[in-house]
Amino acid sequence: MSTARPALPQREPATDLPESVTIYEVGPRDGLQNEKTVVPVEVKAEFVRRLAAAGLETIETTSFVPPSWVPQLADARELLADLGDVGRGARRPVLVPNERGLDDALAAGVGAVAVFGSATETFARKNLNRTVAESVEMFRPVVRRAKDSGLWVRAYVSMCFGDPWEGPVPVEQVADVAVRLMELGADQLSLGDTIGTGTTGHVSRLLDELDARGIGADRIGVHFHDTYGQALANTMTALRHGVRVVDASTGGLGGCPYAKSATGNLATEDLVWALDGAGVATGVDLAALVETSVWMAERLGRPSPSRVVKALAGGD
Ligand code: HMG
Ligand code: MG
Repeated sequence: MSTARPALPQREPATDLPESVTIYEVGPRDGLQNEKTVVPVEVKAEFVRRLAAAGLETIETTSFVPPSWVPQLADARELLADLGDVGRGARRPVLVPNERGLDDALAAGVGAVAVFGSATETFARKNLNRTVAESVEMFRPVVRRAKDSGLWVRAYVSMCFGDPWEGPVPVEQVADVAVRLMELGADQLSLGDTIGTGTTGHVSRLLDELDARGIGADRIGVHFHDTYGQALANTMTALRHGVRVVDASTGGLGGCPYAKSATGNLATEDLVWALDGAGVATGVDLAALVETSVWMAERLGRPSPSRVVKALAGGD
């Protein structure tokens, strides 16, 4: 009898999970912004094309930020030109912190943008060179003009589950910032566990707090970095609270150059394995995704940290 590892999980539908989940792929942006070396633009474009071909409908492609802040993504304009239609539309967001970034993104033909705030003052200063209040004011015209231009807009809040400089972050403090960002007119809120310290009870408490403050789970995405191995458990908790959008990064790439304790996001393959097994539709072809991660790992010169990629591609 063969002892080959199964390529798919045994499907046993879970009764307390949704029928389908939207995966919001952040590998090309969150993943590649944190690489020590700059990935050539044609490799980035190929990465995005492969992700789209594997069935990922929503892909955050890059950031329009000063090259001095994130040199790894300084080729945003070239990337979008290379991608053509594959990089356009409401399912291809890019990060923009300010009006200059929005102008460049609009000129590149994007159909969706994401602003990115912080629940804590220290990270707002380190990541945006602003206070929390100043960053909200920086985003205000960005969101307004983006909506006036017909774009889809996401608002991230970072450090929702702990901050490496400030320690614990009260859920009320996160909700205060989230409410201010959503009042700007964003379509979706993404809760960033930037350093991966969140745990399941904490996820429930924050979602309950946001619900009480008028931001229901139907407008929320969750963004867990997997530093402490909690990302998948936290994601499942969020799904049981009604969240239907989950951020993940193919191969588990990721981190934030302005938060050194941040490591990769929840690996998309680990998420797809868990959801496939539970009978939750994602539209993603797991084998094609694993093949893409192996291909990308060869380009980056190191193996993917994803357990599922290791199991499916690593052999014995
Ligand atoms: P600043 O230095 O205060 O900017 O940075 P400034 O407004 O003073 O401008 C400085 C120079 O940059 C000027 O040029 C501007 O024109 C230019 P100069 O006059 O000196 O020649 N400039 C720009 N150039 C290109 N594109 C732009 C742009 N804006 C200004 N958009 C700023 C303020 C907000 C720009 C900066 O702090 C910044 O870009 N920060 C972003 C850092 C970043 O990208 N971090 C990673 C993403 S966030 C993340 O990973 C977390 C997340 O995944 C969720 C989670 O995990 O929690 C989303
Ligand atoms: Mg992140």
